[in-house]
Amino acid sequence: MRILVIGGGGREHALVWKLRQSRQVSEIFCAPGNAGIAQAAECLPADAGDIDSLLAVAHRVQPELTVIGPELPLTLGLSDELRRRGMPVFGPSQAAARLEGSKSFAKRFMLRHNIPTGHFAACESMAEVQGALQALHAPVVVKADGLAAGKGVVIAAGKEEAAHVAGSMLSGALAGEAGRKILLEEFLQGEELSFLVMTDGERIAALAPARDHKRAGDGDTGPNTGGMGAYSEPGAMDPEMRHWLMHHIVRPTIAGMRAEDEPYNGVLFCGLMMTARGPMVLEFNCRFGDPETQAILLRLESDLAEALADTAAGRLSAGDLQWSGEASCCVVLASGGYPGKYESGKIVSGLDRAAEVPGVVIFHAGTSRRDGNFYTAGGRVLNVCARGATLQAAAARAYRAAAMIHFEGMHYRRDIGNQKPA
Ligand code: AMP
Ligand code: GLY
Repeated sequence: MRILVIGGGGREHALVWKLRQSRQVSEIFCAPGNAGIAQAAECLPADAGDIDSLLAVAHRVQPELTVIGPELPLTLGLSDELRRRGMPVFGPSQAAARLEGSKSFAKRFMLRHNIPTGHFAACESMAEVQGALQALHAPVVVKADGLAAGKGVVIAAGKEEAAHVAGSMLSGALAGEAGRKILLEEFLQGEELSFLVMTDGERIAALAPARDHKRAGDGDTGPNTGGMGAYSEPGAMDPEMRHWLMHHIVRPTIAGMRAEDEPYNGVLFCGLMMTARGPMVLEFNCRFGDPETQAILLRLESDLAEALADTAAGRLSAGDLQWSGEASCCVVLASGGYPGKYESGKIVSGLDRAAEVPGVVIFHAGTSRRDGNFYTAGGRVLNVCARGATLQAAAARAYRAAAMIHFEGMHYRRDIGNQKPA
């Protein structure tokens, strides 16, 4: 199989790494990829926000399967364009990707199908915001309706602040066009869990659950980021809970999309809050999570290429994914200043030594290469991942490797996997 992976972050590096292990795979291409991915796949320049440039790459490569990593090309309709050209693709249609691309669509969909989620109001004017605030208790979560690359969610401590944030979103100042419509949401409390499934629109195969760490600082402090680390652990979810989530959330979502004539094909990422009232959906994503995928794929023992190709072809066999009994942990090394302003072009050292730590795999999220050296080229730069007999063992390996890597301004959380801050 010739496979084309779309995207250029740590998630795509992990996908390429896992696909490489498949005997079914002959060649892997990645657009645009990054300097780390270039060691395992042929990288082709493209802009993930420009469908025409991605289609041009697909025409050149003639892939037997295209795997779309990021949400942007999915919400722009890349899958539909590829399918129209007879090219098999792993990733939902533009219409189905609205589960991520429009938060109000997702919320209304959940209401229509009785899928548990928090209370909300969709607003397009300050008059609507003022009305909605009367029915909500503080804190209030204010969200841009559209894709905002992690900048579209603000948790406001009080109603006055919520109104202020809502105003800056509606004006376009805070989240651009994505914020011209907003949601005000009930603040949910509990532990967050990322529960991902693969589906061909009918059959469903659950992935091992994972936990992300979204805040920049230890102990879940500081600003929200794209994700500072993740882990996945066997036994983290008991069979009853898995059954409950499949019965009340996953199956009604897949069946609901089918009933609404928008069958869902690809990965459905359920961002859950385990509240005192039971699990509730915080958000859906229409793709693999980043950095959850890095932790999840480290534990996958089945052939990923086969599972993705079967999903794309509409013949997924449910429940056939095999998982390692070991745990995995992924620590994100970020540029100084991330998630705010940061500089790129800092030389990265120590990668070779770090990669020799037993059980460690290093994925590149944002690097470039010049004269045989790697340089930083993004906010999230590297994902230091490891497997271990226990979560503690996996985290200890990842942190041992992380400590060997250096670039100016580098920072990372010390408590991924609920480790005590080192
Ligand atoms: P989202 O992009 O919708 O996943 O939101 C980003 C993060 O904001 C989530 O991972 C949660 O940590 C937090 N968040 C979003 N919605 C809520 C909510 N209704 N209640 C509490 N926290 C939330
Ligand atoms: N890790 C959360 C996401 O991929 O959106």
